Amino acid sequence: MNEDNSREWRLNTVLPVSYYVKNSANIFGLENPDILGFGTEGPGSRRLVVIDLKVSELYLKQIIEYLIKYKIDYHVVILDATETKKNIDTLLYLLKEIESFGLSRKNEPILAVGGGVLLDIVGLAANLYRRGVPYICVPTTLLGLVDASVGAKTSINFENRRNRLGSYYPPIAAYIDKSFLETLEPIEISSGIGEILKMAVVKDLALFEILKSHGRTLYESKFLDCEYADEVINRSVKGMIDELQENLWEKNLKRLVDFGHSFSPIPEMRSLVDDNVPTLTHGQAVTLDVIFSSVISFIRGKLSSQGVVDIIKVAREVGLPTHHPYFADSNILMEALNDTIKHRNGDQNLPIPIEIGTSLFVNDLTYDEIKEAAQSMQAFHDEVN
Ligand SMILES: NC(=O)c1ccc[n+]([C@@H]2O[C@H](COP(=O)([O-])OP(=O)(O)OC[C@H]3O[C@@H](n4cnc5c(N)ncnc54)[C@H](O)[C@@H]3O)[C@@H](O)[C@H]2O)c1
Repeated sequence: MNEDNSREWRLNTVLPVSYYVKNSANIFGLENPDILGFGTEGPGSRRLVVIDLKVSELYLKQIIEYLIKYKIDYHVVILDATETKKNIDTLLYLLKEIESFGLSRKNEPILAVGGGVLLDIVGLAANLYRRGVPYICVPTTLLGLVDASVGAKTSINFENRRNRLGSYYPPIAAYIDKSFLETLEPIEISSGIGEILKMAVVKDLALFEILKSHGRTLYESKFLDCEYADEVINRSVKGMIDELQENLWEKNLKRLVDFGHSFSPIPEMRSLVDDNVPTLTHGQAVTLDVIFSSVISFIRGKLSSQGVVDIIKVAREVGLPTHHPYFADSNILMEALNDTIKHRNGDQNLPIPIEIGTSLFVNDLTYDEIKEAAQSMQAFHDEVN
């Protein structure tokens, strides 16, 4: 037989993505059917519930009552989903649990209930298991509500690097129920506001104005007793969705939502293991990066000094840090930028605000500017009351 070795093929296909993000008050209230909108229902149906340890202590009883009412068999996996345990061991543990549950491929969506760390791990496990099984996100932190639930990304940390292993794998649905915030520690409320502040500064002046006038009330009331709470959450989610809709697979590496994430990953990770500096939550690290990047803009004659002052004041009002030893260390900041450049395929692509609510991308930041910005950020911190 005469083989034709010169032949070649190209397979072109598209992967449509559609997922649902919905405000759903009291998601595990006995009369709320939302969570059962996907997968099989009624006798014989099953769900695997993967829940954060602290969240399980507060809400598991209610979740079980809910599943019993709807005659759903369940198995619960409790993960101590902290940033230091967002690793391959936890991922493998969860995958083994999924295997021993014998999860059906399409009609038993995993219920992921917890903060951003838990959602990231469950999302990755769901993506890997049988090359992808559905999962539903129920975020229980503010950061989870406004960012991780919508983000469509999954990850674990690896070799001391944040989110080094991961994938794009959105849940089939994410339900936003702010009543979970009632039990959240104040530091985690601030942390979530850090991601909201990012969105406000880079692309939403109206959101920034709300934070400026009502940030303190939002923070103190945990978004539960402030007339602007829903608007702030909705604007943040919508802002995120608008960015992702156009660029979910990050083909374009100029991403506004990377604001606050250019210099922060290394300081955040390193702060978890360095006893000599204050530990940073994700939202705290993002906030410091927001301020630092805004100071770069100021040095370049774009953002006014009043703009920087306003950002710092908002951060302070909601209990966020406005300085940190790592953000005064130009070598660490340069190291962080170099890692970011690899992530952005050789470009800096640094979003910086021109004025609050509008931005541009910078690709020529120098070490000297980083040094100057670090000093200037410290000076702003010292001078702003
Ligand atoms: N996938 C994405 O698009 C995306 C986007 C942003 C952030 N993230 C990831 O999210 C993580 C940060 O998430 P986070 O800020 O939610 O932190 P987290 O998941 O660590 O939760 C913070 C703390 O709050 C506790 N907690 C959670 N819900 C609670 C509740 N209702 N009441 C009381 N305590 C509660 C947790 O036990 C934990 O101690 C980071 O790892 C980050 O990489 C992912």
